[in-house]
Amino acid sequence: MDRLEEAAVKLPRAPLEDWLRDYYFTADIDISSSGVEPYTFTEVRSLVGLRADHFEALDFRDSPTCGDPGLRVAIARRWDGGDPARVMVANGSTEILFAVLTTLLRPGDEVVVVEPAYHALCSIASAIGCRLVPWPLRFESGFRPDVDELASLISPATRMVVVNFPHNPTGASLADGMADEIADVAADVGAYLLWDAAFHELTYADPPPARTPTGYERAIVTGTLSKAYGLPGLRVGWCVAPPDVVTGCVTVRDYTTLALSPLVELVALRAVENADALLQPRLAQARRNLGLLEEWIGVHQDRLAWVRPDAGVIAFPRLVDMASTDEFCDRLLHEHGVLLVPGSCFGMSEHVRLGFGGRTDELEQGLALVERALKAA
Ligand SMILES: Cc1ncc(COP(=O)(O)O)c(C=O)c1O
Repeated sequence: MDRLEEAAVKLPRAPLEDWLRDYYFTADIDISSSGVEPYTFTEVRSLVGLRADHFEALDFRDSPTCGDPGLRVAIARRWDGGDPARVMVANGSTEILFAVLTTLLRPGDEVVVVEPAYHALCSIASAIGCRLVPWPLRFESGFRPDVDELASLISPATRMVVVNFPHNPTGASLADGMADEIADVAADVGAYLLWDAAFHELTYADPPPARTPTGYERAIVTGTLSKAYGLPGLRVGWCVAPPDVVTGCVTVRDYTTLALSPLVELVALRAVENADALLQPRLAQARRNLGLLEEWIGVHQDRLAWVRPDAGVIAFPRLVDMASTDEFCDRLLHEHGVLLVPGSCFGMSEHVRLGFGGRTDELEQGLALVERALKAA
């Protein structure tokens, strides 16, 4: 294949996906993933009450571009004020992010984006030719988002502010009220606020603080069934956005996947309508696992430093005296069969992304092998 470098829209490689594409399917133990333990179909059917006759009644027609009307209503009720015109459903939030960014951004636009960031949140804008202004989360500051610093980065040329909280990969989340402070900063210059809320429902605080902006008319909040719901393979994500943004995204869908499968939408509708039945067991497991991880890190403080996440199922510890964790992650995988994500996939080489949302016994085995590899390092 020649001329690949000359593609009209040149998307950079996504190092995280390159790493996972190679190893996610071959590792014995996965303690890298950003979602909870996936459910089996049998478990989903029993938890959300899906019966055989629901499937038998299914008609394999094309679905509407913005998603099944019932599913849009269910999402609008759970995540917004209930207006389905503000909802588009697509094949994962990946497709939604692509649709929103390519619909709203033009070459030369200024985009302020949290750093580090999941690749879709920064690379699409940079491929479009936007000027990216990073809003850094720093390990030295406990990965705490600094809203005053964000305000200092905004200008009248800012077309969009892009954030993701709870955050991948640092696990950072927001204190109460901060989501609206961020929205106020975007509102000052009339910028769109793209809020990736993939991990929104994975929180350990009780009661959970309000962690998405309320009431800013240019906010676009994306969600997914891939992370908190244990349904990454269903491929369902959505945005809640101003209706004109939803309508604008339709054209992109016409050139990507047109619509979701009605079979997928049937399962997704039951999942959203019975959300707590799916969320609670996995959240309880993740909370237990976080306790276990905290204890383990406490014992290994001489080798790892971390910021304990209070939401999501990933932590981003720094390995002491290791300028790059690439070789360590490589050896851990090939000698011990354990998958972590090297921090270089997010431009922070001294760190590793460690997922604690999976099975408890898998986490325990994985940590024991990390300990062994650390001793040999
Ligand atoms: C922050 C964030 N946003 C979006 C996605 C995409 O998720 P999906 O396309 O499965 O909804 C991911 C996946 O890892 C992610 O971490």
